[in-house]
Amino acid sequence: MTAASLVARCAHGLEPTLSAEILQLGLGAITHLGHREIHFRALRPGPVAPRTADDVFLLAGHRPDPGTARRDVAALSRLAMEADLDTLLELRRAHGGPGGVSGVSGVSGVEVSASFLGGRNFNRYDVEDAVGSVLARRLGVGYHSRRTAGAPPPGHTGWRVTLDGLRATLMLRIAERPLHRRDYKRHTVPGTLHPPLAAAMARIADIRPGHTVLDPCCGAGTLLAEAGGQAPRAVLYGFDLALSAVRAARENTAGLGVVVGRADAGRLPLPDGSVDRVLSNPPWGGQVTALGLLAASPSHWWAELRRVLAPDGTAVVLLPGLDELPLGLRHGLVPAHVQGVRVSGAQTFLVRLTAPTRPRRTRK
Ligand SMILES: C[S@@+](CC[C@H](N)C(=O)[O-])C[C@H]1O[C@@H](n2cnc3c(N)ncnc32)[C@H](O)[C@@H]1O
Repeated sequence: MTAASLVARCAHGLEPTLSAEILQLGLGAITHLGHREIHFRALRPGPVAPRTADDVFLLAGHRPDPGTARRDVAALSRLAMEADLDTLLELRRAHGGPGGVSGVSGVSGVEVSASFLGGRNFNRYDVEDAVGSVLARRLGVGYHSRRTAGAPPPGHTGWRVTLDGLRATLMLRIAERPLHRRDYKRHTVPGTLHPPLAAAMARIADIRPGHTVLDPCCGAGTLLAEAGGQAPRAVLYGFDLALSAVRAARENTAGLGVVVGRADAGRLPLPDGSVDRVLSNPPWGGQVTALGLLAASPSHWWAELRRVLAPDGTAVVLLPGLDELPLGLRHGLVPAHVQGVRVSGAQTFLVRLTAPTRPRRTRK
C-alpha cells in the first residue's frame, strides 16, 4: 500500500507541541511545518490520533490557488476530479477511519469545509460546493452543502479545502468526526478549554506515574480528563467555586478516579507542598468572572499555587497576558517556558513555571 501523506491541524502556537507528539508517537516523518498544520508521511498503517491535534487528514491533492475572482472558483472542481478516491478511502480505513455504510464507494455522503487566507470575491460555500458536488458525484452519494443546512448527519466523509494564497489543498478527514471533539466532554461551562490545548498543557507538564496533579479552577474538568488520559497512574484533584462547574467536572471525569470538590482556589483544602503538577486556566481575561478570594486579588491564586506546589514542582497555566508573571515571581515561582497560542481568535500564553527545589519557609 502507498505510504499516506497526512496533515495534522492544530491551534496556532501549538505547532511545535503537535510536531513533538507526532514524533514521540512514531506516527510519521515530518515533511512540512506550516501555519496551524504539520505535514507528515506515515511510517506504517494504524490509527493516527494525536491528542494535541484538532484533526488529522489524508492529503488528497494540490492545485494553484485560484486567486480572488469568483469566476475562477469553478477551477477548484479539478481538485475533486483528480483525487484518487479509491486509494484515499483504503488509506482512511488503514489509518483507523470508518468503513462507511452505503453508496457504491462504501461511504454515505460528502461534506466539505473550506477556509482561505486573504480577501476574496467569493465565500467559503462557493469553494465547498465546487468541490463537494464533484466528489459526491464521483462517489455515488449525496452532497451535504453547508450553505443551506447545518452539520451533516453522521456517516459522511469530511473533506477540507484550504487556500493559502499559493496553493489550494484538498484533504480527507480520517476519523468520522473532528478529533478535538472528545467523548468525555458531555458537559461544558463558560470559558471551557479546547481539549487539544488542554492536552498540550498536560504534555508540557510532564506528568509522571504517582504524581499528584491539581487544577484549582477546574471548570468542566478538561485539563484533568486530558491529564488522566495521558498519565493514568497520576492522582488528580480538581476544585472550583461554582457548583455547576463541580458537577460538570465530576461527570466529565467519571471513571478516571479524579477527586472533584467545591473550594476557593485562594484557600485550597490541600497541605503545603503536596502537589507535583498544577494545570490551570484561571478565571481572568474574558468569559469568566473570578469569584471568592480571587475576585479580591489574583495574588491569592498565586500564593496558593506556591503554597501547595512541592519543591521542584511544575505549574502549566494559560494566561491572557504576560503582565501577571511578576506576581508569580513575587511568590517564588520561576517561569521556565512561554508559548503564545491563539484560542478562538484571541492571543493567550501558555506558561510553565517551576517551584524552587528547597521547601518554602512558612511566614510567621
Ligand atoms: C476559565 S474557567 C476554567 C475552565 C476549565 N479549564 C475547563 O476546561 O472547563 C475558570 C474557572 O474558575 C472558576 N473560579 C472562579 N473563581 C474561583 C475561585 N475563587 N476558586 C475556584 N474556582 C474559581 C470559575 O467558576 C471557572 O469555572
